[in-house]
Amino acid sequence: MPAPAAIPVHRLGPRHAPAVARHLLRLDAEDRRLRFGRPMGDEALRAYAAGIDFERDRLFGIFGAESELAGVAHLAMDDATGQAELGLSVDAAHRGRGYGSALLRRAVLHAANRGYRALYMHCLADNAAMLHLARKAGLRTVVSAGEADAWLALDRARHGGALREALEDQFALIDHLLRQQHAWFSCLPRPDQAAANRASVS
Ligand SMILES: CC(C)(COP(=O)(O)OP(=O)(O)OC[C@H]1O[C@@H](n2cnc3c(N)ncnc32)[C@H](O)[C@@H]1OP(=O)(O)O)[C@@H](O)C(=O)NCCC(=O)NCCS
Repeated sequence: MPAPAAIPVHRLGPRHAPAVARHLLRLDAEDRRLRFGRPMGDEALRAYAAGIDFERDRLFGIFGAESELAGVAHLAMDDATGQAELGLSVDAAHRGRGYGSALLRRAVLHAANRGYRALYMHCLADNAAMLHLARKAGLRTVVSAGEADAWLALDRARHGGALREALEDQFALIDHLLRQQHAWFSCLPRPDQAAANRASVS
């Protein structure tokens, strides 16, 4: 697995469900088909986002400049089998910057640390970008009858690392604080504007 990229990947919680929905709604019809394996209308996407079980599953996200979700990974956890299924998507405008790889890597790290045996992805056989991404990350891919499965047998020593995951979460927290600070400062009037305001009331 390649070294962690300098892309902060956040854990998402129930409060992010509306932002997850907005991210999915920005995908065009073809991307929705590639992400879910079938056509998905707006209502179906809203229902999917509203129905995410944040207690059981893990959601990871990457925020864009406007603090909207530019990429989302849904890691469906199955404690009974020790297998986790990953689905991910990245806004068209943010592709090719390593966001998809960063989300995949983050999901592998989390599943391995949870002691899971395998991570898999199910996608359509014509999803060349996803198959490329999966193979690059070391997943074994099997393509048949228009569908593809990508598998990674997880080894905690090789794919996991509690310290690594803690550092990734710290990195995401710093990113969050910087975004908050930026939003706060951008609400303040500029010094010249503040002076003009003071002059107009005196
Ligand atoms: C698949 C997807 C998540 C990739 O996101 P991304 O942020 O662009 O991913 P990255 O930037 O990390 O990597 C993309 C890689 O795919 C390659 N790629 C892009 N289009 C490709 C194509 N048509 N054929 C082969 N490789 C392709 C890029 O060159 C890049 O490879 P590199 O890093 O070796 O140069 C994004 O395209 C997407 O959201 N697609 C729609 C939803 C989907 O298909 N989800 C997957 C099913 S669960």
